[in-house]
Amino acid sequence: MRVVVIGAAGRLGGKLMSMLPATYEAIGADIGGDGVAQLDVTDFAATRAFIAEQKPDIVIHTAAWTDVDGCAKEPEKALVINGYGTQNVAIATAACEAAMLYVSTNEVFDGTANRPYYEYDRTHPINPYGYSKVVGERALMSLNPRHYIVRTSWLFAHGGRNFLQAILGAAQAGKSLRVVTNEIANPTYTDDLAEAIVKLIQTERYGIYHLVNEGACSRWDFARYALDKAGFKNTPIARISTHEWPRPSVPPAYTSLANIAGAAQGIQLRPWQQAVEAFLEREGLLVS
Ligand SMILES: NC(=O)c1ccc[n+]([C@@H]2O[C@H](COP(=O)([O-])OP(=O)(O)OC[C@H]3O[C@@H](n4cnc5c(N)ncnc54)[C@H](OP(=O)(O)O)[C@@H]3O)[C@@H](O)[C@H]2O)c1
Repeated sequence: MRVVVIGAAGRLGGKLMSMLPATYEAIGADIGGDGVAQLDVTDFAATRAFIAEQKPDIVIHTAAWTDVDGCAKEPEKALVINGYGTQNVAIATAACEAAMLYVSTNEVFDGTANRPYYEYDRTHPINPYGYSKVVGERALMSLNPRHYIVRTSWLFAHGGRNFLQAILGAAQAGKSLRVVTNEIANPTYTDDLAEAIVKLIQTERYGIYHLVNEGACSRWDFARYALDKAGFKNTPIARISTHEWPRPSVPPAYTSLANIAGAAQGIQLRPWQQAVEAFLEREGLLVS
């Protein structure tokens, strides 16, 4: 199988490049980064030419503007990159009869549900990042029937910086910690997600998937669990609400994602607590 990964210099894209089976031909592309082809998905002509030239069986599109607060400040820029950039890739893949997998987000939902969201529940984003990702989903659904849409949430990865690293770094530096209790989702280990995506692209069972580590929790629970396991049991974390942590982007309150479609095919990620432990172990930080 010939696979193009767009966003290959990013956290998930980079992991996918290293996890695709050796028998696959993998071509990485990104707007920047070393060892990957340079491609800006907002450039329609360049995107179409690049994908036509590569003749892939599938394109895995992980590239996005993932700065949620940045997207809130510049919603039209978010739309151009995440929405229309994805539309460009969808048109380009359809033109050369390649399949396409698009990585989307829990933030396509409004967070008002009283049970975990199913794959075909109605999307209703409440912030510009979520809106831009919904536009990408809709464009792909209407332009290339051979699509997988994989929604995920709260990724944590080795390298780079995200919520988990920020919490661990603050605890190591002896800083005081305040974390919100009223934002709930599924922490997801990039390594587990990449493994699941590699399995999914072999199925040819196109559609919408929720691939997250099993179980949902608040950001506070996520931080507490990681700190306890990393030997910071005595580090207090103040419980605050999102009102006390104002941000340009309004996060949906409850976006636990139910993985029904993937589980039916045996594609299921381990519980998030086990994934956090595996992450800490590889970082050399697991103490209990
Ligand atoms: N991180 C999360 O918690 C999370 C949660 C749910 C869903 N997701 C989705 O998961 C996917 C992967 O996330 P990630 O954490 O791996 O993101 P990431 O590390 O930010 O990687 C995204 C990559 O896309 C590149 N990119 C940005 N604009 C581009 C353009 N116009 N053309 C080509 N490449 C471009 C970025 O380059 P620059 O860094 O130079 O901008 C970056 O290398 C994204 O689609 C995201 O929406 C992420």
